[in-house]
Amino acid sequence: MTRLSVNLNKVALIRNSRGENLPDLVQVAKDCESFGAQGITLHPRPDERHARYSDIPALLEVVQTEFNIEGNPNPRFLDLVLNNPPHQCTLVPDAPGVLTSSEGWDTIANHDFLKTTIAKLKDKGIRVSIFLDPVEKFVEGAFKVGADRIEFYTGHYAKGYTENPSDAVAEHVKAAKLAGELGLGLNAGHDLNLENLKFYKSSIENLLEVSIGHALISDALYYGLENTIQMYLSKLR
Ligand code: PXP
Repeated sequence: MTRLSVNLNKVALIRNSRGENLPDLVQVAKDCESFGAQGITLHPRPDERHARYSDIPALLEVVQTEFNIEGNPNPRFLDLVLNNPPHQCTLVPDAPGVLTSSEGWDTIANHDFLKTTIAKLKDKGIRVSIFLDPVEKFVEGAFKVGADRIEFYTGHYAKGYTENPSDAVAEHVKAAKLAGELGLGLNAGHDLNLENLKFYKSSIENLLEVSIGHALISDALYYGLENTIQMYLSKLR
């Protein structure tokens, strides 16, 4: 089974645009779960332009399925996660001002930092996933630094899918196989949508979880949140 974790950053972005609490992230998280989502993801960035650090404790109290906090493990982020331990923490190497995450870790160059950081999180009982491009040497590196899971960056897959789906997924298939052999769990995310999700899921046997935000929240404007979540779930069956 591949779980659908709904990334609520875009919901937070709408909320922040008016300075009040509409839409209410806590209520949206509860509703996503009641509509069938199997996880909730939040990705606070240092400028807090969408998810805020203060959203974390509030969501931690209500999420019943799986709470995944993503982000760059700067000291503030690590403090927050260690004091509010979610089920899963996904480490992402995004620079403070980036529009969105667009590449994964170099697990060789960052070996020592990742190993120490992952150990701290695992000590608190948090499952740790690290964001990666589907590159075999980085998958091996993820194993060596002690990650429980890896999350493949699917942005290039999504772009390539429109031209040639099989070519676009080829590197993912190879790297996923290696992850399976090494005993690493496999997640994926970025630019997954109603067109490209089913093919990705059917190509990657050991896919445990996808986290989807931008396209899903955009689709919800047309189909409504409940229908949209059901549509995404149907692509994962
Ligand atoms: N995974 C990571 C690490 C991300 O940074 C994001 C975007 O916040 C996603 C998944 C979800 O990407 P999208 O919003 O394109 O579905």
